[in-house]
Amino acid sequence: MDRIGFIKKVIKVLSIIIAAFLVILIIAFIGHVVKINKFNATERLVTADSTTTEAMVDIHPRGGVTDTWEKENTGLGYKLNAKIYELVVTNNSQTLMEDWRLKINIHDTCYLNNGWCGSFEIHQFDENGTEKTQTVDLRNYNVSDLTGIDYSMGGQDLLIPLKSGDYIVYIPDASGVSGEVPLKGSLDFSGMVVCGFIVYNRAGNLDLSDYEFNYRLHVSYWSGAEGGFYMVSFLGLALIMLLLAVVFFMTVQFEERFILQGKIVEEALGVVCNLSDSKDYYSKEHSVRCAKYSRMIAEKLGMDKSDCDTVYYAALLHNIGNYYIPEQILRKTGKITTEEYSIVKTHTTKGAEFLRDVQHIPHAQEAALYHHERYDGTGYPLGKKGDEIPLIARIIAVADAYDAMSIDRPYRKKLTRDQIREEFIKNRGTQFDPLIVGEFLDIMGERNL
Ligand SMILES: [Fe+2]
Repeated sequence: MDRIGFIKKVIKVLSIIIAAFLVILIIAFIGHVVKINKFNATERLVTADSTTTEAMVDIHPRGGVTDTWEKENTGLGYKLNAKIYELVVTNNSQTLMEDWRLKINIHDTCYLNNGWCGSFEIHQFDENGTEKTQTVDLRNYNVSDLTGIDYSMGGQDLLIPLKSGDYIVYIPDASGVSGEVPLKGSLDFSGMVVCGFIVYNRAGNLDLSDYEFNYRLHVSYWSGAEGGFYMVSFLGLALIMLLLAVVFFMTVQFEERFILQGKIVEEALGVVCNLSDSKDYYSKEHSVRCAKYSRMIAEKLGMDKSDCDTVYYAALLHNIGNYYIPEQILRKTGKITTEEYSIVKTHTTKGAEFLRDVQHIPHAQEAALYHHERYDGTGYPLGKKGDEIPLIARIIAVADAYDAMSIDRPYRKKLTRDQIREEFIKNRGTQFDPLIVGEFLDIMGERNL
C-alpha cells in the first residue's frame, strides 16, 4: 500500500513537472508561432538592381530558331516582329515561396500577345493618366470578355497595346500543376520555374529589365531545428503523459483491489474476533474498538500506513484467546476467584498459540501474548517490562485500558473523560508506556474522545 502511495506521489510530482514544462513549452511555442507568422507575412521585393540572391528573376528572349518571327497582317498598317521571352524565377531560399508577383514596367511601344502558365494583369494609361486594367489568362480567354482594356486583332492574333508608362503584372498559376506557386525552395532541387510570353513590336527588341518582384516565403512551424525541437518536445510530452496516465490507471485499479482485499480481510477478522468478544465479560465489539484506538496511536507515532494496518489487524486478534476461556468465568458479574483469574490470564498464551502460524499479520502473536504485560514488569504472563514488551503490546495495552474504562461494566459505570485521563497519568510508567500514554492523551484531546 505504501508503494502504491509512493507511485501515486511520483506520478503527481511528475505530472506537476510535466505540466510546468508544458506551460513553458506552450509559451515558447506561441513566441515561435508569432515569429514564424511575421516571417511568413513579410512582403519581400527584388528589382533588377537588387543584390540579393535569395530570389532571382531573369527575363530574356528564348532564342530558339522558331522563337522569333515576322508578322505581316497586324491590322496596324505596318509589320511587327514577334519574340518569345522566358521569365525565370529562382527561389534560392531553403523555404517555400508561398506567393509571388512580377511587375514589368514597359519602356517601348509593343503588343502583348500570349503568355503562360499564369495570367497577366494589364495596366494601360492614356495621355490623361486614366488607367485601364484587366487580368487576362492569355491562353484561355474570350475576346468578348476583354472589356477593361484596349486591344486589336491581327488576324487570329490578339494584340494588347502597351507603351512607356504602362505595366503588366505576371500572376503565377496557382493551380499547383505548373509548380509556380508555391515555389519550392532550393533544398528541393526544384526552386526554379520558367514562364513564357510573346510580345510584338516593330523593332523586334524590347527593354524588359525594369521589374519589381514581390514575394513571400513560407516556413512551417515544425520545420528547421527550432520546429523540430517543438515537435519532438510535444510528442515526447504526449508520450510521457500517456504513460503516466496508464500507470496511474493501473495503480488506481490495483489500489481499489487492494482496498477491497483489505476490507475482506477486515471483515473476516472481525467475524473471528467477535467470536471471542461474544464471550467477553464486559462488552461486544471490544476488539474492534481496541483496534481502532491502536491504529490512532500507531498513526500518532508516525508509523506508515502499512504498519498502521498491521497494528489494526493484530489488535483485532489480541483477545482471540478468550475463545478458550469458559463463558461462566468471562461473564461472571461478581468478583472472580484467584483460580478463575489464573484461567482468564491464559487467554494470552492460548491466543499466542492460536496465532502461531499467522505469518502475514506481523506481531499478531506478540499482541496476544504480551498485551497484559505492565511497563513496570508486574503484568502477565511473563512479567516483561519496559522495552522488553513489544511495541504492539504496549500500544494495545493503552487502547485496551481506554476501552475498558470508557464503557459501562456490570460492576461499575464507565469513567468520565477526566477520570480516564487521571488514570492514565497515574499509571504512566507503571502500567503503561509513558510515551504511548502521552500520545494517547493528545489523541483524546484532538479527537475529543
Ligand atoms: Fe485481554
